[in-house]
Amino acid sequence: MGKGKGLSKMLQMKSGHLKIDCTIAEPEASSMIEAFRAIGYSIETAIADIIDNSISAGAKNIWIDYSWRGPDSVIGIMDDGCGMSDEELIQAMRLGSISPLSERRENDLGRFGMGMKTASFSQCRKFCVLSKKAGNEKTFWTWDLDFVNQENAWKIIRYIPEGIDFLERFDRLESGTVVLWWDIDRVTKDLSADTESSRADFLATMDRVKKHLSMVFHRYIERGVKIRLQGRDIEPWDPFMIGFNGLQVRPEAMLDGGRVRIKGFILPHRSKLSAEQYDYGKGPKGSWVAHQGFYVYRNDRLLVAGDWLGLFKKEVHYDLCRIRIDLKNDIDEDWQIDIKKSVARPPARLKEALLAIAKETRARAVEVYRHRGKIVKRRLGGDEYLPVWEERIRHGKRFYRINRQHPLVRKLVQDPGPLSTEIEKVFQVIEETVPIPLITLRENENENPHGKPFEGRCENVLDIMKKIYKKFISDGIGEKEAKARLANMEPFNFYVELIEKL
Ligand SMILES: Nc1ncnc2c1ncn2[C@@H]1O[C@H](COP(=O)(O)OP(=O)(O)O)[C@@H](O)[C@H]1O
Ligand SMILES: [Mg+2]
Repeated sequence: MGKGKGLSKMLQMKSGHLKIDCTIAEPEASSMIEAFRAIGYSIETAIADIIDNSISAGAKNIWIDYSWRGPDSVIGIMDDGCGMSDEELIQAMRLGSISPLSERRENDLGRFGMGMKTASFSQCRKFCVLSKKAGNEKTFWTWDLDFVNQENAWKIIRYIPEGIDFLERFDRLESGTVVLWWDIDRVTKDLSADTESSRADFLATMDRVKKHLSMVFHRYIERGVKIRLQGRDIEPWDPFMIGFNGLQVRPEAMLDGGRVRIKGFILPHRSKLSAEQYDYGKGPKGSWVAHQGFYVYRNDRLLVAGDWLGLFKKEVHYDLCRIRIDLKNDIDEDWQIDIKKSVARPPARLKEALLAIAKETRARAVEVYRHRGKIVKRRLGGDEYLPVWEERIRHGKRFYRINRQHPLVRKLVQDPGPLSTEIEKVFQVIEETVPIPLITLRENENENPHGKPFEGRCENVLDIMKKIYKKFISDGIGEKEAKARLANMEPFNFYVELIEKL
């Protein structure tokens, strides 16, 4: 840094005397713009980035509209924000229109002066921005990748596609902006033909967009900003399930002189929720386990959803733990906010404090399960715990063995004979080939957390439970004792609420 400054100072002094030779090395427009396409946005994150601009422009209404026409499909994101003059729009169309180092208004969701362009180019080859300030005429400009390639120059063109019916709404707005994408090759790449199945794929993509936006902008939607997809309101998805029965809320902690605020939430145990509420908690990622972790917000806009920020791995026992972190927009560099606004990394000096808060919240989240277990055990009077797998040490090495005492297993192997000998052999092969290295590797990658036993297959587990329960009863074991045994038996210990219903 110091070195660089010194050099530029030297250049400034010397160039006056022409002692140092310099030349302009402009970026090559055509290859540069292709590189911008590869920043790694998904359609969800790209649309969210466009909406950031609408919110920063004070929009109260945002409309996302599309018309599916196979390869000729278009997507538009319209807002009733303050809009731009012709001059402002030209400036906004430039890559890097605002430096990340310049100070932003407090409610600005922008970051690098790139989002509108990079997000759009990541999905389409052509996009038009149409804008109007109150009392002004509307104006529009288009970036066309093919034209840039052809001219090899950073030129925008005065062009707007015709026959797009949802644009009619724009003329009725006092002020606002539309970003219109067409030639959306990245969205339609696998869906090139206009068929029923490609249409269904496109609609599924749009459903993902809806779920993502319901999460990323939930605080804005809760505050009354309307985001509509194809005319229908997007409902907010609140990761912390505030207002739900059984939620525990930790006091807010302030770090960095109040610029970082952290609050832990321990979500309600399943037994406190209706089936519908439990499904709500699964969120856009579709599972409780995936949604544990930190939620990092910058100016109330969610950047990172359910991630332990490298401090822990995702584990089943912590699936009720969600921790909110609120940041302002003046500490981006500290938190390494990226162009896509989907990555945030805490600065090293805060790690200790984050770790302490997370540990405390996680401990409370585990306690919910222990507590449930205890209640059930106390009520049922359970005894010994029966896992399916046991750890064994052999010649100083770790191995995993199927527990022959587990009632499900014992039933299979207890009668001596050819069948049980066969089963014993199969067990041994399974035990000797448990894919520990693969499991360890995947655990560390932390991408898709492993599910809890029978996750998403509740009926199956209930079925097995019923069978064992019946067997216990027919063996003359009392109801209470039978239930207690199930509560202490893997994997049924994860489903104590089902035991209570037997
Ligand atoms: N919907 C909009 N309404 C008003 N102004 C906008 C809109 N979209 C973009 N702009 C203007 O264009 C600029 C560049 O946007 P963008 O490329 O997303 O970068 P950033 O958001 O980081 O500033 C914004 O700072 C804003 O001034
Ligand atoms: Mg932006």
